[in-house]
Amino acid sequence: MRLNADERANHTGQQKLARVPSMDQSIPNLVSTSDDPLKAGTDVLIIPVGGPESRGAIYDSVNAACDAELDKTLDALGFTKATANTVTQTLVHDMVIMLVGLGDQPDLEAYRMAVGSAIQQVPEGKRVAVAAGDEPVIAGAIAEGAVLGAYHFDRYRNVEQERLDEIVIVTKASAAVERADVMATATALARNLVNTPPANKRPEDLADTIAGLLKDNNVSVTIRDQAWLEAHDGNGLLAVCRGSEHEPRLVELDYNPAGAERHVVLVGKGITFDTGGINLKPSQGMADMKSDMAGTAVVTAVMSALAALDVKVRVTGFCTIAENMPSGTAQRPSDVITMMNGKTVEVGNTDAEGRLVMADGLVLGSRMKPDVIIDLATLTGAQIVVAGMEIACVMGTADVAMDEFEEAAETEGEEYIRLPLPKRYATGLKSNIADMNNISGAGFGAGTIMAGMFLAEFVEEDTPWFHVDFAGPSFRDSVSGYLSPGGTGFGVRSLLAWLETGNIPPRA
Ligand code: BES
Ligand code: MN
Ligand code: ZN
Repeated sequence: MRLNADERANHTGQQKLARVPSMDQSIPNLVSTSDDPLKAGTDVLIIPVGGPESRGAIYDSVNAACDAELDKTLDALGFTKATANTVTQTLVHDMVIMLVGLGDQPDLEAYRMAVGSAIQQVPEGKRVAVAAGDEPVIAGAIAEGAVLGAYHFDRYRNVEQERLDEIVIVTKASAAVERADVMATATALARNLVNTPPANKRPEDLADTIAGLLKDNNVSVTIRDQAWLEAHDGNGLLAVCRGSEHEPRLVELDYNPAGAERHVVLVGKGITFDTGGINLKPSQGMADMKSDMAGTAVVTAVMSALAALDVKVRVTGFCTIAENMPSGTAQRPSDVITMMNGKTVEVGNTDAEGRLVMADGLVLGSRMKPDVIIDLATLTGAQIVVAGMEIACVMGTADVAMDEFEEAAETEGEEYIRLPLPKRYATGLKSNIADMNNISGAGFGAGTIMAGMFLAEFVEEDTPWFHVDFAGPSFRDSVSGYLSPGGTGFGVRSLLAWLETGNIPPRA
């Protein structure tokens, strides 16, 4: 039976750690202890192991308690240079010891991946502890990898699954485990939103879900409906959603802690399903387009965790939510939209809908004159060609902010490639009848850059801006380390780690 967080806290008698809201119990409860792991009463103890010189205090004490059984096991397997993510199991005093290889010179991501791999081999329903050492940054990475590796999205299963209820992290660095719990819970929230089927996250429902999730998190929520968008020229959202039976929504979120000296605006693409519209996508892979609201999922998840992480920066989020459907009322290729900032856009392709809805968010957000505006969007298939399924692309005008962001992201194991916005391509979006087209001509290439060039036209007031295109890393179809099939939550921890530093360059 699955217990909720409060019930579990009572059940285990252990201190309940800070939690951010999650729509499901999709990850186990995370607790820390500095007690002897052999006496913690779990069924399994996971020990990450590097080279022979650096196996850690817990390895050494377990090894001593079992007449060097661990050394013998590793030696018998020729485990001198621990192979990354390989799991070996031995029984010591009625406890299964899982040794997981970290590979040579492990970075923090190697700890996450190794422990995530090991957790996935723990039979469901067993009690598990993970040896994490006392170095806070490493213990935090281990805790994140453990809890995210145990992520499951079971909402739509009839047969109740027996999942891990709790993971015990053996460390003195309890604050690092608490932070990891917030990071992982926020990541799981983004995964849950992405994994939700599109019929259950129509724009009005998704907006209400977001409001419900954030109501107790020091975040104010304002939902803008169709009438509001009509009165405020939100014509990107209106045009894209015209083919849908459902109205678009723009959700504005604001976290404004006392004494905040910097202001960051986040804009997240929220296409609840992208059929392509009248420029209908081929059926191959279309089902993955339930993930086309991953930008909105990341913005929501980030907002949910700001208070728990005591972020000192004001953060405003805009979720631009619409459903891109073909129908008798849908917009047509060659239609012209007058956008919120007055620019006219010829719709060369109804499948380039993300940039249209993002434009509304960028105009509204940049008019607040924040120190920096960041948008996150599953914007182009070309992004996957540029950087593949595990790395996102970043481009924009906010050079210093991009540096700070990428640096913070690295500690969370999320990787970005910088793309330019070259002047010579500025003419690529020309239209024969309007100010611009939403696509460049056949054979122009540089699809990810051109989408960024389009968005740049909607950033006002000289606001420093960068754009994250994460079409690839936002969603995956296989398990790997702490990553599971479906939504990945990519971007959540990058943004939180950066906002946590408070290292936001002031606007000029
Ligand atoms: N949502 C898609 C981009 C996408 C593709 C995300 C694959 C995740 C995986 C976006 O709306 C789209 O359809 N982009 C078009 C743009 C083109 C028509 C200029 C694309 O990339 O093909
Ligand atoms: Mn599209
Ligand atoms: Zn799309």
